[in-house]
Amino acid sequence: MSKKYSSFQSPKGMHDILPADQPWWERIRKEVKEATEAYNFLRIDTPIVEDASLFKRSIGETTDVVEKEMYAFESRGGDKLALRPEGTAGVVRAYIQNGLAHLGQPLKLYYEGTMFRYERPQAGRYRQHNQVGFEIIGGENDPIYDMQTIIPIYRILEGLKIKNLNIQINSVGCKECRSSYKKKLQNYYKHNLKDVCKDCKRRVNENPLRLLDCKELGCLEIKKKAPSIIDDLCDSCRKHFKGFLEYIEEMGLPYQLNPYLVRGMDYYNRTVFEIYADGFDFALAGGGRYDGLVEMLGGRSTPAVGGGFGAERIVEAMKALNLNMPSKLKPKVFLINIGELAKKKSLNIIDEFIAAGVKVSESLGKNSLSAQLRAADKEGAEQALILGQKEAFKESVIIRDMKSGAQETVPLQKVVAEVKRRI
Ligand code: HAM
Repeated sequence: MSKKYSSFQSPKGMHDILPADQPWWERIRKEVKEATEAYNFLRIDTPIVEDASLFKRSIGETTDVVEKEMYAFESRGGDKLALRPEGTAGVVRAYIQNGLAHLGQPLKLYYEGTMFRYERPQAGRYRQHNQVGFEIIGGENDPIYDMQTIIPIYRILEGLKIKNLNIQINSVGCKECRSSYKKKLQNYYKHNLKDVCKDCKRRVNENPLRLLDCKELGCLEIKKKAPSIIDDLCDSCRKHFKGFLEYIEEMGLPYQLNPYLVRGMDYYNRTVFEIYADGFDFALAGGGRYDGLVEMLGGRSTPAVGGGFGAERIVEAMKALNLNMPSKLKPKVFLINIGELAKKKSLNIIDEFIAAGVKVSESLGKNSLSAQLRAADKEGAEQALILGQKEAFKESVIIRDMKSGAQETVPLQKVVAEVKRRI
C-alpha cells in the first residue's frame, strides 16, 4: 500500500471494533437476546438518519445534544437531516407513522444501533457509539413500567458480571411542578451567575433545568447547593414517584436518590434514572419517562418510558474489571491440504463438515505440511485431516489425532462419519 493511503485514520472519536474485541461484543449481544426474549421486548430498527427537526423538537433545541453535538446536514435534495444522536425519538416517530399502537398496550420495544454525537472524545465518550435501548409505549401511566425498563438493563449488566451496580434515581416532575421549581432554580443561579460557565449564563433564562447537567467543573460546584426538585413535586408526581420507589424496594435493586439528576434531554418527565458501576465516572445506562413525546410528535397522548445502555462503555467496564475474555469456540477439525488437486477438493470437504454441524478450520494459503500442522495445533483442533496429492488422487484422506499423533487413512466418502465417531 502506498504511504499516501496508509495514513488514513478513522474519524476522531470513532473506532474500529477489531476481530480481537468481537467476543466481548458477542457476549453483550447474547445477553441482550436472552433478556429481550425473557422479558418480551420486540425488536425494532429505525433509520440512522432522520429529519433534523425530529430531534430538535423531541430532545430540545437548547440541549447540548442538539445544540452542540448533532451531525446535521442537508441532503442533495435539500432535506435537512441528522445522524441520530439517540434512539427514542426515531422509535416514537416509527410508532406513530406505522400505527403501532394496535400491536398491544403497552408495546415493549428494543433496538440495537449506532448513535452519533459530536462530543469531546475521552474515555467512555465517543462520537460514534452503540446503544441498546428499551421502550415501553402505551398502557397506563403506571410506575410498574418504569421498573420494567430498568429490570432488563440491570439483569443484562449483572449477567455480564459487572459488579457493584448502583441505580441513581430522581423525578423531574411534570410541566406544572417543574415551572415553580424552574423559578427557584433561576433565582439560585442568578445569585451565582459570576461562577458559572458562559453556556449556563444563557441557560438560566433559556432552559434552567439544563443548568443541572452542565459538565463544567465550576458549574458542578454550584450545582451542589442548588434547590432540589423533589421538594416541588405536585401530589400526582409525588404519588407516582412513591409508587416507583416501592417497586424498586420490592425488587431489592441497589439505588440512590439523586435530586440533581435531570438527564440531558427535554422529553423526560417524572422518573429518570442512570446506572453506574463502582470505579467508573460515566453512566453505563440511563433513561426515564417521556409521557409527552408521542403527542408532541403528532400522535395521541400516550404514556411512555424507556432506557438504554452504551455498549462501548460496557466493554470498557468488562475489560477494566479483568473479566475473562469469552473463549472462542475451538474448531474440532483442521483441514490440511497439499498440492493443487487437494486444494480444489478442500472447499467441498469443508462444506460437508459444516452441513454435518462440525466446525472446521483451514489454512488454504500454506503449502508445507509442518506449517499447516503448527496452525492446527495453534487453533487447538482435536483432529487434523491430511489431504495430500496421493490421497486426493485416490479419493482418501488421513485422519490424525492431534494429541497422540496416531494416523489412519479412510475413504473420502466416509470421512465425515469417521470424524464424528471420534469427537
Ligand atoms: P443517554 O443517557 O444519552 O440516553 O444514552 C444512553 C447511554 O448511551 C449512556 O448511559 C451511555 O452508556 C451511552 N452513551 C451516550 N453517549 C455516549 C457517548 N458519546 N459515547 C459512548 N457512550 C455513550 C439516551 O440516549 C436515551 N435515548 C435513553 C432512553 C431511552 N431514554 C428513554 N428511552
